[in-house]
Amino acid sequence: MTIEVSHVTKQYSLGRRASYQTLRDTLASFWKRERSDSAESFLALDDVSFQVKPGEAVALVGNNGSGKSTMLKIISRITYPSKGFVRITGRVASLLEVGTGFHPELTGRENTFLSGSVLGMSYQEIKAKFDEIVAFAEIEAFIDTPVKYYSSGMYVRLAFSVAAHLEPEILIVDEVLAVGDLRFQKKCLDKMKSAASSGKTVLFVSHNIAALRSLCVRGILLNRGKMEMDGPIESVASHYLQQYCATSSAQTWEPGEGPGNAACRFLKVRLHDREGHDLKIGNLSEEVSIELTYEVLQEGTQVAFAFQLYTDESVCAFSSLSNREPYFHGKALAKGTYVTRCSVPGHTLNNGHFFATVQAFGIHWEELFSIERVIAFEMHDDGILKGDFHGSYSGLFRPNLVWQTEQLQCP
Ligand SMILES: Nc1ncnc2c1ncn2[C@@H]1O[C@H](COP(=O)(O)OP(=O)(O)OP(=O)(O)O)[C@@H](O)[C@H]1O
Ligand SMILES: [Mg+2]
Repeated sequence: MTIEVSHVTKQYSLGRRASYQTLRDTLASFWKRERSDSAESFLALDDVSFQVKPGEAVALVGNNGSGKSTMLKIISRITYPSKGFVRITGRVASLLEVGTGFHPELTGRENTFLSGSVLGMSYQEIKAKFDEIVAFAEIEAFIDTPVKYYSSGMYVRLAFSVAAHLEPEILIVDEVLAVGDLRFQKKCLDKMKSAASSGKTVLFVSHNIAALRSLCVRGILLNRGKMEMDGPIESVASHYLQQYCATSSAQTWEPGEGPGNAACRFLKVRLHDREGHDLKIGNLSEEVSIELTYEVLQEGTQVAFAFQLYTDESVCAFSSLSNREPYFHGKALAKGTYVTRCSVPGHTLNNGHFFATVQAFGIHWEELFSIERVIAFEMHDDGILKGDFHGSYSGLFRPNLVWQTEQLQCP
């Protein structure tokens, strides 16, 4: 039940990717291009060593493209290291990104039995667990449907349930919590917690730092393929948040040096108030705007933007897309400098710290590039909504809702 990772290096050739690409891969490839424009190959993992003891719950942390999934795939023997080795004792069940693992033409039932037998379980053993698996996944009605017709949520629910119930000694989970509703995410976390507390070894990748903190005792931080830190989850999580997440509410780049591609490149991202002044701390009851300044370098560029707001525990508060922007969405832009703004009305967010990630898309929503956690800001409670209440409000939002009372009957 131990995992020994010894000097693992994984080299990939640039431009020779598998045809299957997830949105995350697209995000990740941005990093890759940025750092090795001229190189023929690059190291997705560079001389990484660590050991995981039986019963340990370990989080792998790092930015998009830092090598987390590659490490999990090597440990799960889906791909092999270019150098170094991994030694495992114990039965491993992996739940990697959506799209791996199940055979699309087979039904949920057939895939469950297939996964079980890959794990080395007998037909009888899988049969005994079958009802529990289906019930946990909540897909009774679809168990005899080929999984290619499943929604990504259904797919992940079944994949998680299979991996968690087939009594592996080592459970490896990559990003599942990004899919599925909040209630199911909590159910998965509880299941992983009970696996960890019953002495199973758990390796968990997530961008949800709150989830990692609650499940894991130890964290390993990867940065562009290299091990940067290995220690208690609290120290690793706070180092990661400080080091890799913006601390400023504005970022500026010299022309040609900002994030972007040959057609469009950023000059500035900032937060401002209603009057257009830079803002570090927003007021709950007042409008705040995110402003993107960029150069269009090629005539006829079509570009759209999106942003996501995350809390400091990496919970996504909400996202917004520019596709109803009346002036330019979908229009071919002439060369020049542009500013795009999105205003968040007052009485939207609760107080706390937030990060914004900005993405640029082509006209068919193919992702062009992404700027992770580009700005950070705080929302401050000016007390207007609180009235005579002095406590704190829970939740991500602080809408100004209408309350009404009327008397229905007189005595
Ligand atoms: N099959 C492949 N061929 C070429 N490059 C690849 C392949 N798989 C991954 N990469 C690259 O290896 C690097 C590490 O990718 P990996 O998927 O391990 O990152 P990650 O830490 O899981 O990122 P994310 O947080 O986005 O999931 C990235 O630059 C990615 O583009
Ligand atoms: Mg990944």
